[in-house]
Amino acid sequence: MKERVLSSEELKDDEVVDNTIRPEVLDEYIGQAEVKENIRVFIEASKIRGEVLDHVLLYGPPGLGKTTLAFIIAKELGVNIKTASGPSIEKSGDLAAILSTLEPGDVLFIDEIHRMPRYIEEILYPAMEDFTLDIIIGGEGSSRSIKIDLPPFTLVGATTRAGDLSAPLRDRFGIISKLKFYTVEELTDIIKRTSKVLSMPIDDDAAKELASRSRGTPRIANRLFKRVRDFALVDQKESVDLEVMDKALGRLKVDKSGLDETDHQLLKAIIERFNGGPVGIDALASSIGEETTTIEDVIEPYLLQEGYLKRTSRGRMVTEKAYKELNISYQGGLFGMDFDS
Ligand SMILES: Nc1ncnc2c1ncn2[C@@H]1O[C@H](COP(=O)(O)OP(=O)(O)OP(=O)(O)O)[C@@H](O)[C@H]1O
Ligand SMILES: [Mg+2]
Repeated sequence: MKERVLSSEELKDDEVVDNTIRPEVLDEYIGQAEVKENIRVFIEASKIRGEVLDHVLLYGPPGLGKTTLAFIIAKELGVNIKTASGPSIEKSGDLAAILSTLEPGDVLFIDEIHRMPRYIEEILYPAMEDFTLDIIIGGEGSSRSIKIDLPPFTLVGATTRAGDLSAPLRDRFGIISKLKFYTVEELTDIIKRTSKVLSMPIDDDAAKELASRSRGTPRIANRLFKRVRDFALVDQKESVDLEVMDKALGRLKVDKSGLDETDHQLLKAIIERFNGGPVGIDALASSIGEETTTIEDVIEPYLLQEGYLKRTSRGRMVTEKAYKELNISYQGGLFGMDFDS
């Protein structure tokens, strides 16, 4: 995959570097008001009852704060958090090993939970429901199943695709929260907070402009801020102003609407190679050299929400807004007709 403001490899890098700017408590977690307030109530109630918090499933596009929220939940509960990721749990022994380290009330965070093998899910069901582990020990002929009691714990699962979770697994989460793209105001607050943490002031108008060009995503906002900060430093500015921000984003090929090269490439491909669509996801993916999952999970959600792209029963179609964005004249009503609506 070519360099992008938000490529999946870089995301993981950022997670390590970004730990300093990650909010640690609910009050510092900006936006997602509904999700946040619900979780606050559930945490409070579980404390009053003296029971563990129900299992929580967090889903939504990358970089919106799922991992951050999982850590906050553990912190607010005052318990330890153990982390694992779906694809790394390959054998029943892997899961048993993780579960056996849990202390009463702990949070087990499983990232990318949709990528966990099905047979692991099946071991997880009783663990989630009754806090017991059924494992089979011994080899052929002499194998037997044993039941191990686990301490009560809270599973927090995160996924970019809730639809890929099996129904029985989904049903075992008492709390299911969908994270949404952030508003410009919320992202402005996030950028200002990051600017304080990193001790690099940013002007109000620059913060707002940066926010509006961050694809509704805190990770992108923080990432762009860090790049812009480099430009400001080299230009010997005391704070990030509109001028240096505009220059930096121009270099990073982030346009006025916040779309980047990959977004443009995708919209352009649909217009130029598929007459504006509809085009199937597989044909689209091979035409721009991206994985279908990258299109579905990373690129497309924001384009859909902002109305550059539409999903129809026969595939993806661009809208008039996409033509405008790319400065291509729109043959509305002639070729661009949408038969599905
Ligand atoms: N509500 C928020 N307030 C302030 N900063 C936030 C918020 N949500 C996310 N961030 C920042 O954005 C970065 C990305 O968030 P996070 O890693 O939690 O996203 P994610 O949803 O887990 O992404 P992925 O799907 O790629 O794992 C964090 O490092 C954090 O600094
Ligand atoms: Mg994450």
